[in-house]
This record gives sequence, C-alpha cells and structure tokens, in this order.
Amino acid sequence: MNIIFARDYDELSRLAAAKVADTMRSKPGAVLGLPTGSTPLGMYRELISMYKEGKLSFKDVTTFNLDEYEGIPKEDENSYYRFMRDNFFSHIDIDKGRTNIPDGMSCDVEEECRDYERRIEKASGIDLMVLGIGNNGHIGFNEPASYYAGITHRVKLHQNTIEANARFFGSVEKVPKYAVTMGIKSIMHCRSIMILASGKAKAGAIKKALEGSITPELPASVLQLHRDLTVIVDEEAGSLLK
Ligand code: GLP
Repeated sequence: MNIIFARDYDELSRLAAAKVADTMRSKPGAVLGLPTGSTPLGMYRELISMYKEGKLSFKDVTTFNLDEYEGIPKEDENSYYRFMRDNFFSHIDIDKGRTNIPDGMSCDVEEECRDYERRIEKASGIDLMVLGIGNNGHIGFNEPASYYAGITHRVKLHQNTIEANARFFGSVEKVPKYAVTMGIKSIMHCRSIMILASGKAKAGAIKKALEGSITPELPASVLQLHRDLTVIVDEEAGSLLK
C-alpha cells in the first residue's frame, strides 16, 4: 500500500490527476473506473486543464462509473450521469460511447447489473479504479454490512449516507433510498486502485479502513488486501493515521 500525504486539497487533486494521466500514458486505451462526490472534483478539473493544454487526450479511454442512484432520470441535476457529464465528460475529447454508468432507471435492475459486469469484462477489466470514501467507510455505494456484496448490485442506502448526500438534494426526503453500485468483487478485480480522502470528516473512516480490521462493517477496509493500492489523503483526512 502506498500512502501519500498531500498538504491540502489542491495538492491531493494534482497528485490524483497525475496518477490517472500516468495510467493513460503507459497504456493507450486505458480503462478507468470513476467516482462521483465532491472529493474527485479537483482531480477532474486538473484532468480537464491537462486536456485543454494539449497534454492529454481521452479519445481512446473507456470509463466505468462506480454507481448511480435508482429512480433518478439521467437529465436530473442530481443523477451521477449529469454529474459526470457536467463536471468532466463534456469538457474533454472522450468518446461518449466509451463512457459507462449504471442505469438507475432500468426496469430490470438485475439484468442491468449483470450487463454492467459483462461490459467491464468485454473491456478487459479496469486498469485504474479511483475511489472516494463515505463517512461510514463505504466505497461506491457498498454500505457497511455483515457480508461483502460481490458484483454490481442494487443496494439500499444507509440513513447515514442519505443524510450525508442530502446537501445535494436540498432535503433528506428527496434523496433516493436505493442505488446501483459496482460490488466489492468488481472493485477488487481492478488492476490498480487509488482512494482519495479530504477533510476532517473522513479521518475516522480512513484510519479504520487502513489500520483497522478487515470487515464488511467498514467496506473500505477490504482494500488492505489489494496488491496495488494508492491512498492519497490531505492533512485533515490523514490526521489520525499512525
Ligand atoms: C457518495 C458516492 C461515493 C463517494 C461518497 C463520498 O456516496 N456514492 O462514491 O465516495 O459519496 O462523497 P464525497 O466525496 O462528496 O465526500
């Protein structure tokens, strides 16, 4: 495990973008796993700048997003589809046909999950999976549970997550109760993983994830078992680490 302590959020974002760019340069046609949330926004901004300065092209890149809310139409301002389009995809030269996000409006969720896994397999797997972390240690929408859910699946969101994400929806009641997420097995199968954490609110989850016991009650702790894991924390998120 490679833990990088960034001075602040800006440095974290630059380091994260540099790692994505390295992956793309070392493997033309790289397959990236991408997260939503406020943490990766700076990384996306850095990547957009690199593209605009002519230092990076996303033409041959394929992407798979981690998760999507259930029952939120693509065009809704709170869908992860909109998040990715507005904050990243519409600013770069990526082929939209190569971007994949679980369909939270599918009338056959089970089939959508199976199909998502088939698409990842067809792309020969994910080279670099970028993750954020929830305050309760969730990754994607893999919530604390008594077992590890394997592949892409439908999940009931925890009250803690609903409350944390209510800031985007204006009220707790408007946050969807279900989502579709890549599972722990889908994540652990990625060839390399980079997890980002910024701010005091993440310090406890990061400490438990990296220094605590490996348990589905703290989903991110399973990452300790991955053979190519990079962790980038800013000063506050890394403040409790030994
Ligand atoms: C959501 C997403 C996660 C993300 C988490 C943390 O629940 N499903 O993938 O890591 O939020 O978000 P933030 O970076 O805004 O703290």
